[in-house]
Amino acid sequence: MASRVDRDPRCGWTGSVSFEEMWRALAPVGRSATSGGYFRQPFTPAERECADWFAAEAAARGLTLEYDGFGNVVAWWDVPGASGPAVLTGSHLDSVLDGGAYDGPLGVVSSFAAVDLLRERGFVPGRRIGIGAFVEEEGSRFGLACLGSRLAVGAVAVADAEALTDRDGVRLGDAWASAGLDPAAGSKLLADVGCFVELHVEQGRDLVHRDAAVGVASEIWPHGRYRFDFAGEANHAGTTRMEDRRDPMLTYAMTALAANKQARLAGQRATFGRIAVEPNGTNAVPSHVTAWLDARCSTDAGLAALVEEISRQGLARAERDGTTLAVTAESVSKSVAFSSSLAATIADPHGWPVIPTQAGHDAGILSEAGIPTAMLFVRNPTGVSHSPAEFAPMADCLAGVDALADTLERLACKFPRLSGETCGCQ
Ligand code: HGY
Ligand code: MN
Ligand code: MN
Repeated sequence: MASRVDRDPRCGWTGSVSFEEMWRALAPVGRSATSGGYFRQPFTPAERECADWFAAEAAARGLTLEYDGFGNVVAWWDVPGASGPAVLTGSHLDSVLDGGAYDGPLGVVSSFAAVDLLRERGFVPGRRIGIGAFVEEEGSRFGLACLGSRLAVGAVAVADAEALTDRDGVRLGDAWASAGLDPAAGSKLLADVGCFVELHVEQGRDLVHRDAAVGVASEIWPHGRYRFDFAGEANHAGTTRMEDRRDPMLTYAMTALAANKQARLAGQRATFGRIAVEPNGTNAVPSHVTAWLDARCSTDAGLAALVEEISRQGLARAERDGTTLAVTAESVSKSVAFSSSLAATIADPHGWPVIPTQAGHDAGILSEAGIPTAMLFVRNPTGVSHSPAEFAPMADCLAGVDALADTLERLACKFPRLSGETCGCQ
């Protein structure tokens, strides 16, 4: 029997026992012994171990596994007599580099625990309920965020995806082949999905400020990833006078400063978190610097304006430095406004706050594809995410399981609620 991590009153129902056991089983997979952070990049041994864990949990519950050709998977709770569009929940199991334990896996583990709780309550769904795990949500290996869900909804051409490469030059097409996947099979996972609810750790402190363990998403800010290629002239670090240099590192540095300033002035977000320098030598002026900008704004127009201004200032600086700059948009996600009626159906009976997020999610991709979608957030006391420090207290995680179980019950019920409410995705 799992030990009780804390004395939450919910401890004791099946969902809490299974949650703690699953959480403990998944915790060591892909965790760095030095930083404590996670390296679960798609189609690497650690992430494939997570996929095996998912399959085992599904099998333990008699759920039917359905895979697509891209590495996405859904575990279906098929109930005789179930009819109508399916209700999908779940999230992702991959991580950013040196990421936290909760971003993604909290939604998947909570989904299994919520099914356990519903079964304990004797709930018989009127619709199929699926637990999904989308691959490469973070874009941490092949660069395109929400790659699995974008492929599942047909938002990315398979041929374009196959050609994506990781930092070692490995093509996604080859990674699929190594994982025994055939992208030509495409994806039918979402064929009869009527709505999708993703539970996710909050990546911010809105719920902390509102003193709420659970929240519902109203929208996702538009955001994008842009590759900045700065080119200059390699030269000797000692014999080359400062005035004779064409140093791309200088142009990059001034562009990074401009990005930070412009984002602050506009109340938006801009981050250069990844850089590659060639030849990356201590005693040489670099020939080339590649840097990736992650920009996020409250509106699509704001995002375009912010990136345009940063690029303009970078190009002006390149002119001064005798270097060149090329900017390429690698992945852009438009703003997502979730179904307000579905959000209200879920949130209102509990008084859960409905809040925006600046983080991208598979839920945003499915919503954009026309699938009525909602997100549940679980409080994160520090708000820190994409870091080994990411955390959510067990009591709040169990509150999330409770909330997800209640939401799934409302959305997958056989009949309209006794009070006459209709299901959110009917
Ligand atoms: O980057 C994001 O916003 C998400 O965590 N993939
Ligand atoms: Mn993330
Ligand atoms: Mn995530």
